[in-house]
Amino acid sequence: MAVGILLVGGFGTRLKPLTSESPKPMLPVAGLPVTEHQILAAKRAGIKTLVLATSYLSEVFTPYFGDGSKWDMKILYALEKEPLGTGGAIRNAAGMLDFESLGDEPIVVFNGDVLSRHSIANQIEFHQAKNADATLHLIDVEDARAFGCVPTDDEGRVTAFLEKMDNPVTNSINAGCYVFHPSVLDLIPLGDVVSIERETFPALVESGRPVFGYKEQAYWLDVGTPAALFKGSRDLIEGDFHAMAGSSIDPSAVVTGKSSLGRNVTVSKGAVIDDCIIGDNVKIENGAHLSHCFVFRDTIIEAGLEKSRYYLSSSISEPINLP
Ligand code: GTP
Repeated sequence: MAVGILLVGGFGTRLKPLTSESPKPMLPVAGLPVTEHQILAAKRAGIKTLVLATSYLSEVFTPYFGDGSKWDMKILYALEKEPLGTGGAIRNAAGMLDFESLGDEPIVVFNGDVLSRHSIANQIEFHQAKNADATLHLIDVEDARAFGCVPTDDEGRVTAFLEKMDNPVTNSINAGCYVFHPSVLDLIPLGDVVSIERETFPALVESGRPVFGYKEQAYWLDVGTPAALFKGSRDLIEGDFHAMAGSSIDPSAVVTGKSSLGRNVTVSKGAVIDDCIIGDNVKIENGAHLSHCFVFRDTIIEAGLEKSRYYLSSSISEPINLP
């Protein structure tokens, strides 16, 4: 049975200020943390054991996910005192797995900031059929200039990892979900800072090891910026808004624009909430008017407050403009 590693330890600098109090993978999308969406996807693929590779704000993961039994999974936690980069994090997290009992079972690695509906089960099957060392999910984008691109041959074998360029040779990019043969992870030195994308994958390809690209054009979004996070949340919401259990909305309030409300959110009389992401246990008082705002959990929005494009949190003295 394949096991999974979730990379959740980055600083998420492009998502500031949203990541000043929460790691990027714990930010809510349609009411649930990005990581929880990924755990549910891993579960659908038959994965039962997951290691969360934590570093920045590591302490927030265990209280939320515990031992994983709520999802009928086994969840373990690896900690890097200083972030080890994506490759170093994978090597460190792999140390939590029992390689003897794993045998040849593949290890599936998820970038912790990607929403993807591709079939992880089919990706694993493709990887095994090709006897690959590593298999990356590849996605075609309209304009690959902003990304590194990943050309493959007719068999799907990766021929190079190319940095960003003005005239990309292919529109296929790394979609951030990898399947590894366990032996490959031994090639990464334990405790060193290593980038899987910039060091490990190019080195594997250069040394002639079998690295494959699995192409599936499913819904896919990297939620690495505030605009992308809001889009990801809106994409998952059917209807005008989504509210988690325990939330209450006064009949005179208006909630629209595919806003997402966490657990136990109260929207009081005459309040207007448009295109917002609201965390758990937030109280929005009478007549407040928020548009395209991110409200961190446990915050009270005072009566009559009017804000557009702001990050609001009880632990910061002044709201911060969203980029
Ligand atoms: P930016 O600072 O905005 O680039 O975001 P980031 O720090 O999250 O980096 P990036 O988007 O490249 O990371 C991809 C995924 O890997 C994210 O889910 C990160 O949480 C995770 N990640 C990045 N660096 C590390 C690291 O050093 N350790 C661990 N455990 N995870 C990491």
